Amino acid sequence: MEEIPLPPFPFQPNAYAGPSANEVLALRKEFLNPGIFLYYKKPLMLVEGRMQYVWDETGKRYLDGLGGIVTISVGHCHPHVIEAARRQNETLQHSTTIYLHPNVSEYARNLASKMPGDLKVSYFVNSGSEANDLALLMARAYTGNYDIIALRNAYHGGNAAGLSVTAHSTWKYNVPHSFGVHHALAADPYRGPYGRDDAEAGRKFASDVKQLIDFATPGRIAGFIAESIQGVGGCIVFPDGYLEGVYGHIRAAGGVCIADEVQAGFGRTGSHFWGFETQGVIPDIVTMAKGIGNGFPLAAVVTTPEIGSVLAQRIHFNTFGGNPVATAIGKAVLEVIENEKLQENALRLGGYLLSGLEKLKQKHPLIGDVRGKGLLLGIELVKDRATKEPAKAECAQVLENARERGLLLGKGGLWGQTIRFAPPMCITQADADFLLDVLDQALDIA
Ligand SMILES: Cc1ncc(COP(=O)(O)O)c(C=O)c1O
Repeated sequence: MEEIPLPPFPFQPNAYAGPSANEVLALRKEFLNPGIFLYYKKPLMLVEGRMQYVWDETGKRYLDGLGGIVTISVGHCHPHVIEAARRQNETLQHSTTIYLHPNVSEYARNLASKMPGDLKVSYFVNSGSEANDLALLMARAYTGNYDIIALRNAYHGGNAAGLSVTAHSTWKYNVPHSFGVHHALAADPYRGPYGRDDAEAGRKFASDVKQLIDFATPGRIAGFIAESIQGVGGCIVFPDGYLEGVYGHIRAAGGVCIADEVQAGFGRTGSHFWGFETQGVIPDIVTMAKGIGNGFPLAAVVTTPEIGSVLAQRIHFNTFGGNPVATAIGKAVLEVIENEKLQENALRLGGYLLSGLEKLKQKHPLIGDVRGKGLLLGIELVKDRATKEPAKAECAQVLENARERGLLLGKGGLWGQTIRFAPPMCITQADADFLLDVLDQALDIA
């Protein structure tokens, strides 16, 4: 089979001098919690990264087609981000919000300038799970109601609050954590009851939320939370008009609307800076993580001054939230997205990849569905296009095949049947061609 070369990249990684992958694996098995999992049969160890590429300990280069896990927005070790972190690390590494520091205030202002409506005040935390936990707290404290509506097929994090609104049996431990949470139909036009051929699909899926409010809650609710595009669930793009319909039902029942932008935010959808904008809505609370810090632990909850003020009813504190290094990095990431026109790049190359994936669908019967926006894309693999039986083992094999050829991809969906693409937004046309060519080969021998 013809070898597909990675696009040239003028960077020489350092010679690796650390412990071998086998030694690291042995340490991991002995000293790390067995709950963490590995992606590949032969575990991959990554030791260096630059922009859209990463290197293993042997010096082999890979195109990072998943961008960390949708975390690397502007590129691994982007020089502007690294320089901002270095300067702040050398000046003051740690301070908290009990003192003034320019970074956290300036960054909050810069973030607010990217938000529509009255979404103006930020609370910084360290992870997406924490951000969703805080957003649910604010929704409940602000409305005085308890019930939350979330969506099936959602992923919102691994802490108690995140698990409560997550809706995949594979992630949910058998402990009490979902009291007061109700899961509506996932607005999935591929597997759900209303397809892309139904112009009313958005409204019909939204009516399931109304049914839940009427039948499963006291009729007054605290809020609704949804990813703007379901990521872990396999890149599910809601039909047009869906969130608009849902938000109407939620607000009529006294609830607030929370958009989880952990994967879809920061220009990744290409057409808009925020994923919710692709649905023409303005949420009341927005949660952000992953791409916000380009891989650095940084997350935020942005809301209106009125909703935000409920936290002032008690004392609320987060030790690392708003850390000067984290917020220096956050500022630098926003600057790179703007200066290097990365949203525009996500739009252009995302569109190119999407049409390339459509072409691959015509060639490979394994591909049941192609979907996504910008550089948040997915292909769902099925054993049979008529029954849509999930092709789980084949999906895992395609990932292995791609890895051997220098391409790292992601997996999603309840059965691990969807291949996910979310490369750093700095990829080039040559990278997109490489990705499509490698995928073509990898699918052939699934
Ligand atoms: C949409 C979404 N929300 C929340 C989270 C949780 O973020 P974290 O892993 O930073 O806690 C994730 C993580 O994958 C996510 O994809």
